[in-house]
Amino acid sequence: MEQRFIVVTEQEARFNTLSEAVRRLGVSVWLHWNSDVLVQLIGSMGASAVFIEFTEERATQAADLADKLLAVYPRLWIVGFAQRADSQLIIEAMRAGARDFVELGASPEIICRSLKQALEQSTRMPAQASGRMISLLGARPGVGATTAAVHLALLVKQEVLPDDPVLLLDFGYPTGDAALYLDTRVNFNFCDAVRSLRRLDHALLNTAFAHHKSGLSLLSLPQNLAELREIAPADAMTLLSLLKSYFKLIVVDLGGFAGTDLLLYALGVSDSTLLVSEQGIPSIFSARQLLGSFQERGVSTERIGLLTGKMDERIEMSSKQLAQHLQLPWVGDLPLRSERMIACANQGRLLLDLFPNDPYVEVLRAMALRECGRQGAPRLPPNGALGRLREWFKA
Ligand SMILES: Nc1ncnc2c1ncn2[C@@H]1O[C@H](COP(=O)(O)OP(=O)(O)OP(=O)(O)O)[C@@H](O)[C@H]1O
Ligand SMILES: [Mg+2]
Repeated sequence: MEQRFIVVTEQEARFNTLSEAVRRLGVSVWLHWNSDVLVQLIGSMGASAVFIEFTEERATQAADLADKLLAVYPRLWIVGFAQRADSQLIIEAMRAGARDFVELGASPEIICRSLKQALEQSTRMPAQASGRMISLLGARPGVGATTAAVHLALLVKQEVLPDDPVLLLDFGYPTGDAALYLDTRVNFNFCDAVRSLRRLDHALLNTAFAHHKSGLSLLSLPQNLAELREIAPADAMTLLSLLKSYFKLIVVDLGGFAGTDLLLYALGVSDSTLLVSEQGIPSIFSARQLLGSFQERGVSTERIGLLTGKMDERIEMSSKQLAQHLQLPWVGDLPLRSERMIACANQGRLLLDLFPNDPYVEVLRAMALRECGRQGAPRLPPNGALGRLREWFKA
């Protein structure tokens, strides 16, 4: 895969010199000193290295930035650079956690060689436990996003990754639907987790996070959504990225939580996104509006997959046509199972419990296996990180 680098400097000429020198190794993106955006982009781009310029005037700012990024991505490969290497600057950079330092005055071959060595070294380091995040969005209320997210997360935990930590992030609105489906009490919510960011570790995950009897972890939004306004957006973003290093797989029910920053962050760090839409015109209309609103906010929608919800063969529109209307790649059909869903609701049980081989469950079982890289079937296409990036810059 093509490597991606981020270069942080105020000077376009310096960005050009550096990106030209490392062109053979990958693509570089130029950014200014905005640590919140950086934290967000590193996650969504999968950047291999971040170059930070160290100048006398900005040495402290550069060190602070390196520090912040490393707090979120402890294994991030940070490279300091300067027009002329001054030993004081190199020491500052190394103290701040930079793994290497390059001098722009050096020849491009030297810069390129030193980055290549650094990258080789970084791949020899133990791989970062990087989990996969799958988000489910509902085109409109009631299309079945929560039911699908709950089943997908449970199937992964019970059948595919029983020994690994799996999380269901319940961002659906009204809050806590997934917890209700799973009959699990959640006392510790997303905002509590954000506030505990600095002390987040395995012990806290095991004790504070709610757990379904299968072992599936569960984190919901607070009942009072006003609490969301009290947390720093960068902290929320950081938490989402950090959760990916603790959990092997995270399923996010984005439900009806459209248009908010949190949803955009979640989309940014998701490895794949599924939009659940029914075949009818109202659902198509809402889906289009939702996709349009993402584009307006600078989020690329080209790689969102379509999951047909409540698929009814009697309706003339096929899922292929639906995919065409929405211009999304088709990923699967969740069949309409009204009778059984009602039977489950009456007993307060899940379809997976009562009818483990129901065709609806089978669709999500196959997806659970695929998403975990089992069965050799290709995964969903990754979100178009670079496309999204371009969109962001255009915005
Ligand atoms: N494939 C299906 N066939 C029949 N009924 C279904 C199907 N999927 C979900 N349902 C039912 O539709 C209703 C809404 O489902 P669900 O809560 O999963 O939707 P949602 O998209 O999360 O809705 P909301 O926007 O309210 O969060 C529930 O009563 C559920 O049992
Ligand atoms: Mg829901």
